[in-house]
Amino acid sequence: MSFNHKHLLSMNDLSESDIMTILENAVMFEEVNRRRIKKVPALRGRTVVNMFFEPSTRTRTSFELAEKRLSCDTINAGGSSSSTVKGESLGDTIMTLDAYNVDCFVVRHKYAGAAKLVTQYTDACVIDAGDGKHQHPTQALLDLYSIWRRKGTLEGLKVGIVGDIAHSRVCGSLIRGLHTVGAHVTLIAPATLLPARPDVMGADATTPFFDDVLPELDVVYMLRVQQERLENSPFPSLREYSLLYGLNKSREHLMKKDAIICHPGPINRGVELDSYMADHPERSVILDQVFGGLCVRMSVLYLLLGGAENGISA
Ligand code: CP
Repeated sequence: MSFNHKHLLSMNDLSESDIMTILENAVMFEEVNRRRIKKVPALRGRTVVNMFFEPSTRTRTSFELAEKRLSCDTINAGGSSSSTVKGESLGDTIMTLDAYNVDCFVVRHKYAGAAKLVTQYTDACVIDAGDGKHQHPTQALLDLYSIWRRKGTLEGLKVGIVGDIAHSRVCGSLIRGLHTVGAHVTLIAPATLLPARPDVMGADATTPFFDDVLPELDVVYMLRVQQERLENSPFPSLREYSLLYGLNKSREHLMKKDAIICHPGPINRGVELDSYMADHPERSVILDQVFGGLCVRMSVLYLLLGGAENGISA
């Protein structure tokens, strides 16, 4: 097993072998997370600071749980309870916390590049937990993990990513990750929500016509319409958007028999997904993505912080 990275800031930094090392280690943590005692000594004595300056349910809770199950000491220091609201800069905040000799910062911030900026103020490892519209590498890794566990492979799969691609940091990471492992990526959205250079991001094709490509897809990855990041509405109304790009019961007959549905969460039910599709017992892997997120984040922390020294025996 070889994984020579100090930080996790972008999927662009990971080779196929790095990605598969993370996913294969996550399988080991799946077993740990199904034990009665879900705690291992791998990162005993290590300190991780979680700094979430933007709202989060899945990423924040799964990082904190991952750290605790690996026996780290954890501090939650971001957001409205930190002195940044009194005007302290991000750099001063990091240098202050770094004085405790911590081992890792997990950073979510509304500014693209915030996690990279943090690396300038500390020698600790830094993990990007989502920065603006830029990157969300652990989301991409958990998506790859959930698809791989369900489909048994990643190479050659046809993946359609549908919706608000232009405003999505999930896409910034996921398209690159899918490209690296040899999947074919089609971006499906109105022209106003497509990125300027999809080829540079690693996508193979783009189309505004969802129903034309839906029958070919092995994986239908639905994105949330990020109303908080929209300045001028890129479509006439949510109702029209939902009619053209929503995955609902009336489109199921167009899907392959074994096509699966992913969504990073949180879902706008009734906009990009109806409840029939979101909760579909065979097709939806949305809650598998949540569980996979815990296992993948344990794997990332374990690999970055050298957990193999202590191992994962109970
Ligand atoms: N997918 C995702 O990042 O969800 P949260 O914002 O709830 O962490």
